[in-house]
Amino acid sequence: MLNIAIRAARSAGELILRSTDNIGALKVHQQSKKDFASEIDKSAEREIIRIINSAYPDHSIIAEESGHHPGNDFVWIIDPLDGTTNFLHGFPQYSISIALTHKGKLTQGVIFDPLRDELFCASRGAGALLNNRKIRVSQQTHLQGSLLGTGFPFKHQQYLDVYLEMFKALHTDSAGIRRTGSAALDLAYLAAGRLDGFWEIGLRPWDMAAGILLIQEAGGVVTDFSFDHHFMKSGNIIAGNPKMHQIIYNAINPHITDALK
Ligand code: IPD
Ligand code: CA
Ligand code: CA
Repeated sequence: MLNIAIRAARSAGELILRSTDNIGALKVHQQSKKDFASEIDKSAEREIIRIINSAYPDHSIIAEESGHHPGNDFVWIIDPLDGTTNFLHGFPQYSISIALTHKGKLTQGVIFDPLRDELFCASRGAGALLNNRKIRVSQQTHLQGSLLGTGFPFKHQQYLDVYLEMFKALHTDSAGIRRTGSAALDLAYLAAGRLDGFWEIGLRPWDMAAGILLIQEAGGVVTDFSFDHHFMKSGNIIAGNPKMHQIIYNAINPHITDALK
């Protein structure tokens, strides 16, 4: 099943990369850049679903662009292009994210960066890999000197003030905070030890499913803002190695409102 996910992610990656050759031309010819982008999102998603369906016609699928395709208790969770705004602007940071759950448990996860040809994957119980090499979360133990990732709640303006308080609480002591625009890649980077911690408000299941398994298999911890595991529902997550996870939770906890729990 992991191999099918990898095949699908690579094939979607090729399709996305081919389309970047034409972004300039399409910008000139297209009225709406968003329509173009969503066409690429949709065709990448169709390609992923085609590959999964041909191997596992009975499985269910939840995909960002086409929604729920009912089937049995294997459920694929797909983001065909995570970082669409970056993609649209030629900002080279985006990915494909594909996860599989069985009876509600994450079992496989793949995040592919087609620009750098970096393939992050994990199978439950078998660890996490980047291009076939084992990855682990970082060993950072202090906020001082740490590099954190985040996402701005641009689709949830009502949380902007609360978010900025959280940002302030972490910004003073950390070495830096990155907002890359692809949450899936941020989570993969955390699994690979490139980021020491991450938090975001309002993610969707396809943004985080594969990344969560990668982090868990790389020795990290992921929770929601109640220090619990309902992140797929709330969309609010904190991630890091066990120590950094606790440090981030402690720092933002005073600002976590009931609506975010
Ligand atoms: C977005 C990216 C971004 C995150 C947003 C997501 P999309 O996904 O993951 O980093 O901050 O919340 O919606 O729309 O580019 O697939
Ligand atoms: Ca996404
Ligand atoms: Ca997307």
